[in-house]
Amino acid sequence: MFPEEFVAKYVEAYTKEGDFVFDPFCGRGTAILQSLLMGRNSAGTDINPVAYCISNAKARIPEESDVIDRLVELEASFTRRQTEMDEEVRALPEFFSYAYHVDTLRPLVFLRNALDWRNDDVDRFVAALTLGSLHGEMDKSSSYFSNQMPRTISTKPRYSVRYWRRHRLDPPRRKVFELLRAKATYRLDGEVPKRKGAVSLCDARDSGGMFENLEGRIRLIITSPPYLNVTRYEEDQWLRLWFLGFEPKPTYQKVSQDDRHSSEANYWDFLSDAWEGIAPLVRRGAVFVCRLAGKDIPRKELTENLYETILSTFPRAYMLCAPKVSRIRNRQTNNFRPGAKGCFFEMDHVFMLT
Ligand SMILES: C[S@@+](CC[C@H](N)C(=O)[O-])C[C@H]1O[C@@H](n2cnc3c(N)ncnc32)[C@H](O)[C@@H]1O
Repeated sequence: MFPEEFVAKYVEAYTKEGDFVFDPFCGRGTAILQSLLMGRNSAGTDINPVAYCISNAKARIPEESDVIDRLVELEASFTRRQTEMDEEVRALPEFFSYAYHVDTLRPLVFLRNALDWRNDDVDRFVAALTLGSLHGEMDKSSSYFSNQMPRTISTKPRYSVRYWRRHRLDPPRRKVFELLRAKATYRLDGEVPKRKGAVSLCDARDSGGMFENLEGRIRLIITSPPYLNVTRYEEDQWLRLWFLGFEPKPTYQKVSQDDRHSSEANYWDFLSDAWEGIAPLVRRGAVFVCRLAGKDIPRKELTENLYETILSTFPRAYMLCAPKVSRIRNRQTNNFRPGAKGCFFEMDHVFMLT
């Protein structure tokens, strides 16, 4: 995830109030929210429904009273119908009975069926709050619903069950609606942007056609595409995807066409296509900030290849400054997967697209 300060620095340097900022791989929506908080307009795309739900919840933050009212209404409806969840709970794979206390799982199954996260801003916000608490380190915070898991990725079912058995870990009993109300109040108490943004659940390569009203208006693109040969977001987020209505097990390329991009040649083609996809939205003199990393690829090669992908759509683009390298520190998942290898550095590139 981008740090807010990273986004703030470039938004401050290259845009003014009311300008448009775009993130074609918007993930958790840091670029979108930070730009809105700074009085800019923002939009983005992501192919993963989890990322879409979270980033669009940040782009279109509802009124606190609407969220609380909806949670009260949902809880009342759940209380009337909770035994109806039992059949669905029983049909879930073994993983779920180790991951969740049954009194936590029932309301989660109910919310999974009830929330219209694709179309409704309030429901999407509630879904995003639930996704944030769906799994995490129960020994560190009582706001996570699951048995001990990393917060960032959903561990694989067989591995998780073995881990919980070996460590004799039982799932905690959580008051789901109470926790969500407390989270909503906490989240919406702080600074909320006045403007609303827009996120589309689509492939970045199609983003030009998704935002007709933004044609030729984007002043700053700030993004971090999937890194070369690092992760598969769909597999890593399988439990959150289940909550959004998808299968109760890890899937690969079923929900999104997100790929691990293990072939280098395909990867650079993919990025070239993505820049071509956003080109119709870009205004003259726009700036493009791209944070990128890769496993087992020299830094110089990373920069040269990225530059080439940009030149294929914006032939007069040039680099505004030398790329900045930052080390990636301690990855949270390493505690759960000792010896797991990740990337060790990220590089920030800034281009003038002319
Ligand atoms: C490195 S993450 C972005 C993180 C983001 N900067 C943040 O602050 O959270 C890359 C994102 O690209 C998304 N993605 C992968 N392939 C995509 C595609 N073809 N089109 C749009 N988004 C895609 C992934 O789902 C993931 O959310």
